[in-house]
Amino acid sequence: MTNVDAILQAGLAAVEAVSDLIELEQVKARYLGKSGELTELLKQLGKLPPEERKAAGATINVAKQAFETAHNARRDLINAQKLEAQLAAESLDVTLPGRGLSTGGLHPVALTLERIATLFRSMGFQVADGPEIETDFHNFQALNIPENHPARAMADTFYVEGGDVLRTHTSPIQVRYMLNNEPPIKIVAPGRVYRVDSDATHSPMFHQMEGLWVEEGVSFADLKAVVTDFLRRFFERDDLQVRFRPSFFPFTEPSAEIDVLGERGWLEVGGCGMVHPNVLRNVNIDPEKYSGFAFGIGLDRFAMLRYGVNDLRLFFENDLNFLKQFN
Ligand code: PHE
Repeated sequence: MTNVDAILQAGLAAVEAVSDLIELEQVKARYLGKSGELTELLKQLGKLPPEERKAAGATINVAKQAFETAHNARRDLINAQKLEAQLAAESLDVTLPGRGLSTGGLHPVALTLERIATLFRSMGFQVADGPEIETDFHNFQALNIPENHPARAMADTFYVEGGDVLRTHTSPIQVRYMLNNEPPIKIVAPGRVYRVDSDATHSPMFHQMEGLWVEEGVSFADLKAVVTDFLRRFFERDDLQVRFRPSFFPFTEPSAEIDVLGERGWLEVGGCGMVHPNVLRNVNIDPEKYSGFAFGIGLDRFAMLRYGVNDLRLFFENDLNFLKQFN
């Protein structure tokens, strides 16, 4: 049994030589497997004279244990090294400077809306709001648009089940506000509106801002002054030419289109007029005592003019290369 030590030494050297778990298991099989070298020694114990067997058996078992201890230590070391390598490759260096979070920005139409609302707030107007799905009453009837009026034709309007409509303008907010508030009333009301319409300058969804001032003695001269002052401040031109061109809306009388003179001629930016007495009566305001004006402007049109955008559809395609330019 003198070769036990030689086999053990060779086994220990083999264990130390490998750096891979699979190879390590192969080494183990070579020594401790079914026909491993140390296992074979145990099998041969029977051939020894009986008085030598006990001592020889003990020697082999000590060698087996020594081999197992070395094997386990090697396995732990290989695993630890693997973990180290993985941590080094995957860990975060928390001391590195950050990549910089981009905060995003407001949409050009939202920027325009904010700017216009701010101008009107500075003139004493409050900002009001209303639902995008409107009743027939608020969107049409109360605004003096009777059942058979051309403005109600199915072709212009998105109806929803039950007879409500996607509001076709921001004017129903006038109705809601006047039903719930006593004069003096001085509001602007921005929002999305919907019409069956689609080309480079029309989109089925677009944005308007309504204006309404109802108080004793409000006149068309006030309308002209407020709208002209607003337009000159918005376009930052004190000499901006503004034109009120006679027109028709069922809910104002008299009515006018608002035009501004640009480089390529007169450009329509909205509609306006004195609130029709029927509308005031519909919301329980006495037209003999109060008068008022209203206007509606296209916010997208204002954004296009301010930023030099020539296709309305760019605002709604959400192309980041386009949108990033406004931050
Ligand atoms: N509601 C009208 C439109 O959508 C605009 C308007 C508002 C006209 C208020 C007069 C007064 O065209």
